[in-house]
Amino acid sequence: MGLLIQNGEIVTPSERYRADIYCEGETISRIASKIEAKPGDETVDASGKYVFPGFIDPHTHIYLPFMGTYAKDTYTTASKAALIGGTTCFVDFCIPGRDEEPRDAFATWNEKSEGNSACDFTYHMAVTRCDDGVKEQLKHIVEKEGIASFKVFLAYKGAFGVPDEELYHTLKLARSLGAITTAHCENADLVLELQKELIAAGKTGPEYHYDSRPAVVEAEGTGHLMTFAEMTDASVYVVHLSCKEALDEAMRAKERGVKAYVETLIQYLLLDKTYAERPGFEGAKYVMSPPLRDKSNQDVLWRALRNRLIHTLATDHAPFDFETQKTMGKDDFTKIPNGIPSLEDRVNLLFTNGVKTGRLDLQTFVDCASTQAAKIFGLYPRKGTIQIGADADLVVYDPNYEGKISAKTHHIATDYSGFEGFPIAGRPSVVTVRGEVAVRDGAFVGTVGRGKRLAREATHGA
Ligand code: URP
Ligand code: ZN
Ligand code: ZN
Repeated sequence: MGLLIQNGEIVTPSERYRADIYCEGETISRIASKIEAKPGDETVDASGKYVFPGFIDPHTHIYLPFMGTYAKDTYTTASKAALIGGTTCFVDFCIPGRDEEPRDAFATWNEKSEGNSACDFTYHMAVTRCDDGVKEQLKHIVEKEGIASFKVFLAYKGAFGVPDEELYHTLKLARSLGAITTAHCENADLVLELQKELIAAGKTGPEYHYDSRPAVVEAEGTGHLMTFAEMTDASVYVVHLSCKEALDEAMRAKERGVKAYVETLIQYLLLDKTYAERPGFEGAKYVMSPPLRDKSNQDVLWRALRNRLIHTLATDHAPFDFETQKTMGKDDFTKIPNGIPSLEDRVNLLFTNGVKTGRLDLQTFVDCASTQAAKIFGLYPRKGTIQIGADADLVVYDPNYEGKISAKTHHIATDYSGFEGFPIAGRPSVVTVRGEVAVRDGAFVGTVGRGKRLAREATHGA
């Protein structure tokens, strides 16, 4: 018994065309202008709809011990929410404490994820300490477990942050293994000193988070990473880039031949610093790092996405409740758990505000929300495209749906949405996970536990 998707318009990063898609087992076996159903086949009529490759979110935090608390979602709640929003695969971060062994953190993350996700997933392996013992373990994790990317934090001094010497050795190791290193780029010392000055001056509210992490601090972090990438010839990926100053640093480095990739987030395209200035501690909902920027940055980011200078559009999904978790920083903004939940909303918000407004063409939409993540992180062409042999992760998308985002109806585990009331002009009507229908018209109908941890190829070697 197969799955046949008929009469839709298929969109890939380079093409748009009408054809039927036949899926057998877990993969796509045929694409042709007209395919007849066989007895027992399940059919989906995609007339008037687009058929996209399953979307990939390359930056989520589902299990995350952070700032004295834990992110709120589980792999079950998050994967259901992801699928309802059209994301069929996500890349989480496995983050050992600085005193913890990477192998132990890897086991913990697997305990949380395996058997609990409804869609496929993988991790970036964070390097929070880099010595000989850690290097041996990382080699094993890349080569034997297929975790082909690292993560370093240039921020969060005293917690996840690594000193320069260890950054250098991490990049050298990554280069030798063909792994890519993703990086949170903000100068940790500047952030810490600015935080101390602001708190000492009685500037304790969420609106001051922005002043503790100005654009120049992110630009310095980005330039810093580029220097180290240039010295080691390693491939690097700047996560959650938020502003023109940091983008300029990355573009300058690319002109020098640095192998750099850039990610931005849906929140930096649609929200600005005034959200974090909302009265009555409401601004805490919008405290994230880097902070929401001046609105003028949004056009810069949209343009760079359209020109494919920014490669990927992610969420940095970091779900903390407002009432019980964000309030940990009621008297001190440095204690507000950083981040915003948006895993369920990324694709619909990008379609509504990018494609529907004419800022992005459909192919670029697919490229930045799916294909590039697969290519950069060693999943292509299994994921990120529609072709014979690829996993049958497909999104039949209704461009005529109209709705609104609300915490009252979302499937993420948090008590608020950063996009409350935002209109949506399009949503997935059917989503498949390796050939099984997992979503119909906003309802999860899939199988928890079907999601597998993916082994990825280390494609950034010589
Ligand atoms: O504010 C953010 N981005 N929180 C999540 C952790 C991180 O820095 O990615
Ligand atoms: Zn970060
Ligand atoms: Zn993050």
